[in-house]
Amino acid sequence: MKIKDKRILVTGAAGFIGSNLTHYLLELGANIVGIDNFFNGRLENLDEALNHKNFQFHKGDIRDFNFLLDIFKDIDIIYHEAAFTSVPQSIKMPESCNDVNINGTLNLLNASRKRDVEKIIFASSSAVYGDTPTLPKKEEMSRIPISPYGVSKLTCESYMQVFHHVYGLNTISLRYFNVFGPKQQDSPYSGVIAIWLGQIIKNESLIIFGDGNQSRDFTYIKDVIQANILAAENKLSGEIFNIGAGSPIKLLDLAKLMLKLTNKEELGIIYDPPRPGDIIHSFADISKAIEILKFQPKYTQEQGLRDYFQWFCKKYKFDLKIK
Ligand code: UD1
Repeated sequence: MKIKDKRILVTGAAGFIGSNLTHYLLELGANIVGIDNFFNGRLENLDEALNHKNFQFHKGDIRDFNFLLDIFKDIDIIYHEAAFTSVPQSIKMPESCNDVNINGTLNLLNASRKRDVEKIIFASSSAVYGDTPTLPKKEEMSRIPISPYGVSKLTCESYMQVFHHVYGLNTISLRYFNVFGPKQQDSPYSGVIAIWLGQIIKNESLIIFGDGNQSRDFTYIKDVIQANILAAENKLSGEIFNIGAGSPIKLLDLAKLMLKLTNKEELGIIYDPPRPGDIIHSFADISKAIEILKFQPKYTQEQGLRDYFQWFCKKYKFDLKIK
């Protein structure tokens, strides 16, 4: 199957991952239908796509079944990136997280069944593992989420598998590990790298929640896109893959690295209390994706950070001296 000949729906197309995926797929020559309700997404993220002849955009919500049925015309593949994405926000608003992530995903699956969609690739999360002690995380290890967000992603994965087994829909779940890169927004509910870059730009100290010894397997967006293309082209269905860099970094080391790369070491670090619902360590075993999907991450965290900072400076005309 060649993805460039496909008609693809991207949910959450104006969000961080959805907009990067949309632009890449347009470059490949695919036809894209993008949807977003602008809860997290921004039209600005789709700048280059909006005038593209192969791109159609519809504002709407995945919880609206009739909206989905209306726009599901000859869709071959769905990349389901629309989500309630923040762990701390899910702790404040568990019902909303449940509604968007679980009910929205179920709606999408039901609409896909009705319209004979070929394949759905779902954006899952390392949050499904929770804080179980064994590292790195392998797909078959126990999953004990510790936040409403983690519960919602695990439930969606189960729905992906059930729709594969019961209704014969082709589904794949990709468990992303802390994705970062261009178009990630600096907001209180965004990923830590975008928040810290915002603090660097404002000449503020970086704020670490906790002692900074927690670790994450930060993964550059371009590697996540590679995984999504490989997942669409693979014939397997009902499967789950970890998608990470496979190399964890402590938050304290990440903060120091970001300050060093931007020549802003003088800004320093401030420690705030740990965040409830936070996982301590997250580190992906990506051997299944390497073996079956032929996934091969190309960016170290340092290379990814440089690429992201350069994009940011060009886009927003900031003059950071990146090392
Ligand atoms: C992130 C994603 C989530 C995704 C998961 C796994 C976001 C908002 N969250 O969750 O959607 O499913 O990765 O891919 O994109 N921290 C600070 N200072 C800050 C902000 C955060 O120290 O200003 C710390 C947090 O306490 C945490 C770590 O950084 O220990 C990572 O936090 P965050 O970037 O929010 O990611 P996750 O919660 O891991």
